[in-house]
Amino acid sequence: LMAEKGGYKHFMLKEIFEQPRAVRDTITGRLLEEQGDVFLEDMKLADEELKSVDRVCIVACGTSWHSGLVGKFLIEEMCRIPTEVDIASEFRYRNPVITDKTLLVLISQSGETADTLAALREGKSRGAKNVAICNVVDSSIARESNGVIYTHAGPEIGVASTKAFVTQLVALYLFAIRFGQARGTIDIDRGRKMIADLVHSPSLVEDALKLDPQVEKVARTYMTARDFLYLGRGTSYPIALEGALKLKEISYIHAEGYPAGEMKHGPIALIDENMPVVVLVPKDRHYEKVVSNMEEVIARGGRVIAICTEGDEEVRAKAEVTLEIPPVPEDLLPLVLSVPLQLLAYHVAVLKGTDVDQPRNLAKSVTVE
Ligand code: G6P
Repeated sequence: LMAEKGGYKHFMLKEIFEQPRAVRDTITGRLLEEQGDVFLEDMKLADEELKSVDRVCIVACGTSWHSGLVGKFLIEEMCRIPTEVDIASEFRYRNPVITDKTLLVLISQSGETADTLAALREGKSRGAKNVAICNVVDSSIARESNGVIYTHAGPEIGVASTKAFVTQLVALYLFAIRFGQARGTIDIDRGRKMIADLVHSPSLVEDALKLDPQVEKVARTYMTARDFLYLGRGTSYPIALEGALKLKEISYIHAEGYPAGEMKHGPIALIDENMPVVVLVPKDRHYEKVVSNMEEVIARGGRVIAICTEGDEEVRAKAEVTLEIPPVPEDLLPLVLSVPLQLLAYHVAVLKGTDVDQPRNLAKSVTVE
């Protein structure tokens, strides 16, 4: 069994460390570096069809829903198309507004999640264009959708999704570039810049993995907390949701992700000297605002674990502890920020002695309602 796990103690840890490879495999053969465009052979949506789209609905469950929330930022920013993100079990029963100009994007690691499959069928019956982002070739969702963008994460065994999530993000970048090119909302230079960033992304994910021993120490310090709060703004907000989900799934500690600016409308009431707050505060356009949210937490005695950019003296001086990621282009922050959060959940769970790869009550894929 140890051999199956490639020498790692758990599948989850193996899969976290496979992410540079998984990211590389998901971009390989798809980048048209000269044209600043990408090639997605199984997507089966011609430029004319992409141009006729007036709204995108991303539909998914669990971790895949979190990648969809990042996808909204990417698609709205690069393609200037209103994009909504819905949970499949809500979407399918909501009488959603769908026309033949709606593009439905289904995201599913397994391709077998019952609600996501039902949402696809519902959308198709109303004439929506559709494409799936799946990790499992020939899965139900991949087969029934019109087109598919495969993530090349390889088989994911750990119930808590890690490498599948990060490759879903990559697939969404690729999709946003292709869609933006087809619609003329990004030019060659912008496309080339995005592609150059993507080429660089496996090594940035690799660098973030070097935080592992430090994250383990942080896990030791905070593992006895009863609750955790995770805060972020912009694309770091869905990453905060995903960080909190990872912790609850495998360590059974209650954790909540929140948009940092919304904290004052509720979660701030929970903050005291027993509350670790993981603040995602990289150097990006939201930096100043997040620093002030972090100060609000500190003023109420909260214990800040800041995930920030290497060498950030201001954050170092304020937070109880920092985990510092290398400087990365803003586009790629979600990929890199995910890594320390996965490792934090992993180490807390190991220290608590839970069944990391098979957490209680959870299934790898939920094929019944
Ligand atoms: C289950 C898994 C999660 C996963 C979700 C959606 O809850 O435990 O890790 O994110 O299903 O699965 P899918 O295969 O559709 O991405």
